[in-house]
Parts: sequence; structure tokens; C-alpha cells
Amino acid sequence: MSRVLNFSAGPSMLPEVVLNRAKDELLNWQNSGQSVMEMSHRGKSFLSIAQKLESSLRSVMGIPDNYKVLFLQGGATAQFAMIPMNLLQGKQTACYINSGAWSKKAISEAKKYCEVTVSASGEDGGYSTVPAVEQWQLDDQAAYLHYTSNETINGVEFSFIPEVGLPLVADMSSNILSRVLDVNKFGLIYAGSQKNMGPAGVTVVIVRDDLLAAQNPALPSVFSYAQQAASDSMLNTPATYNWYLLSLMLDWLEDLGGVSAIEKINISKSDKLYQAIDDSALYENNIDVGYRSRMNVPFVLSNPDLLPEFLLKASDNGMVELKGHRSVGGVRASIYNAMPEKGVDKLIQFMKEFERTH
Ligand SMILES: Cc1ncc(COP(=O)(O)O)c(C=O)c1O
Repeated sequence: MSRVLNFSAGPSMLPEVVLNRAKDELLNWQNSGQSVMEMSHRGKSFLSIAQKLESSLRSVMGIPDNYKVLFLQGGATAQFAMIPMNLLQGKQTACYINSGAWSKKAISEAKKYCEVTVSASGEDGGYSTVPAVEQWQLDDQAAYLHYTSNETINGVEFSFIPEVGLPLVADMSSNILSRVLDVNKFGLIYAGSQKNMGPAGVTVVIVRDDLLAAQNPALPSVFSYAQQAASDSMLNTPATYNWYLLSLMLDWLEDLGGVSAIEKINISKSDKLYQAIDDSALYENNIDVGYRSRMNVPFVLSNPDLLPEFLLKASDNGMVELKGHRSVGGVRASIYNAMPEKGVDKLIQFMKEFERTH
């Protein structure tokens, strides 16, 4: 079977160049006589991979020196708890924007540690937009403001970086590395790896130094940003092979021209897909146009009875994982960095042909 176009929300497809390079180096990494999988994380070879990974990420994202970069485990879900554990630092409250299903999860986890002020919520509107900033209710005593820069399930993406006078914490799991970003505007950025960065198993945390100043000594070491930073994210044995794959992904992105180059491609891919949806009588996306996600494009069919056939025929044509999230239904096309533009073109062509024949 030839390789399919995988529109999954994550884990998602990886560039063939990256997979081939991993294949070439699988048994014998750079003449070391061993696979990266077999290397000690304390050995010279692996330490060189780890250093390169961090320096590539710093360079690709323009991460300033006063930020620590951590490569952790436990996914973004662990961060939902680690953020209040580490950042409250004696404060009682934290502000959260509820823009979709993932924000909501982050909020319910934070409630175990502090009072949560939901500064704005899109829930009543069915999460179809980002609540207007003028209406956000901020608590100036809060330790931070958390938001989800791209809601993977609902397909709502912030098109701006909020400036609110509180340390800004962003869950970028599904849009990190997809658009140019000024890291200086954030206190902390986190993201699971399995969408835009590589396979599942690594969580990137980028955190400004000053937020680590007064750590709670009672925190379990493995959950402490300061301790993880002090041990170069090797407090426990890291996900070594995944770190290596992440670094191959960053090489691929750099070769392509970096984040600004991929952003242009992402704009082109998502614009043409939304255009095809808007031009059709069969497909519909009801997200506020200014906040439509470039990464996750959900849409419904005006005749929902056609959905099973749509998905089956798409799969027969080599396009898989298009089923919408169970809470939303319909179709969701996740078009992360590794989805080639011609993959989106093929999907659009298929959608048009399906509409013409139904
Ligand atoms: C925006 C967002 N946040 C958090 C998560 C949870 O990530 P993980 O499964 O890595 O814990 C996901 C997973 O899809 C996500 O899309």
C-alpha cells in the first residue's frame, strides 16, 4: 500500500524526508555503531543530539536567552497541572480564557490547585469564536493568564497575542511552529509534540526565567520546572529517540526556510480549503472567519446522511482520519506543517467531485 494522506488531529503525519533520514540512521547513527534508541542519555553522542535539539528550537522560534527550554513527558495534559503547581507562587488565583474543549480541560485541572477566574468564555456561543478582548474580566492579582492558542477540536485559533499585564501562558499544542511568534510576549509556552513537532512523547515547555524564581520546595522534583531546567530535562531518563526525531523535524523546517516560510504555506493551504467550503452548498464551517484555525478545519455536510460515504470514499482515495471529533461530528481536516499543499489540493478536488455527484 502506498502512503496515505493522514488528516489526523494527532499523532499526525510526518514528512517523508524525516522518516527516511530516521530510517537511514536507524541502526547506526552517524557511525556511532548504534541506534539513537540504544544510546545512554548521558553519553557524548546523545548529549550532542540534545544540545542540537535545543539550539535548533531556539533558533527556529527565536527564543531569547532569558527563557528555559524543557523537553518533558506527560503531554500537554501534565502541563495543565504543572502550570498552576509551578506558577502560582503563593498567589491564590489564575485567569483562564475558555475558547474550547482544551481550554476547558486546562481549567478543570487548574481548579484543583487554585481559584480560577474564567475571564471570558466562548462556550455559550458553541465555541465559534474568540471572545472579544474588551469583554475579558481580568484579575490583576492573578498569577497568570492562560489561553489555548489553537483549539484543535473546535477549529478556533487566536489570530493575535493578548497583551494583558499578567504573565501569559499559552497551550500551543496544535499550532506551535506554524506561524511567526514573538516569544518575548509570553511567560510560558507549552505544546505536546505529536502535531507539528514529531511523534508523541515529548512536551516542549518554554518558560521565562523570572517565573521560576520562587519555587515551592514541596513540589515533586519531576514536576518542578526549576529542577527540570537545572538538570537539562534529564531529571529522569528522557524520551531519547523522540528528542532525536524532534531535532530531525527542526532540520526539515530550517531547510524549508523556517517558520516564516511554513506560515506562508499554511496560509495558502487553509485559505484554499476554507474557500472551497464557503463556495460549496454541501459543506459548512461556522467558525468566525477571523478566528478560523489554519491547522484544524472542521466542517459539516448539509446532508449528514452522506457523511459515512464521504469518509469511506475519501479513505478509498488515500485520505484518512477525516472524521470529526465525536463531540462535534462532521469532518475535520487537520493540516499541520507536514501535510503537503498537494494533499490539501487533493482533498479539495475530492470534495468538489463528491458534491458534484451527490
Ligand atoms: C490544544 C491541545 N491541548 C492539549 C492536548 C492534550 O495533549 P496530550 O494528549 O499531549 O496531553 C491536545 C491534544 O490533542 C490539544 O490539541
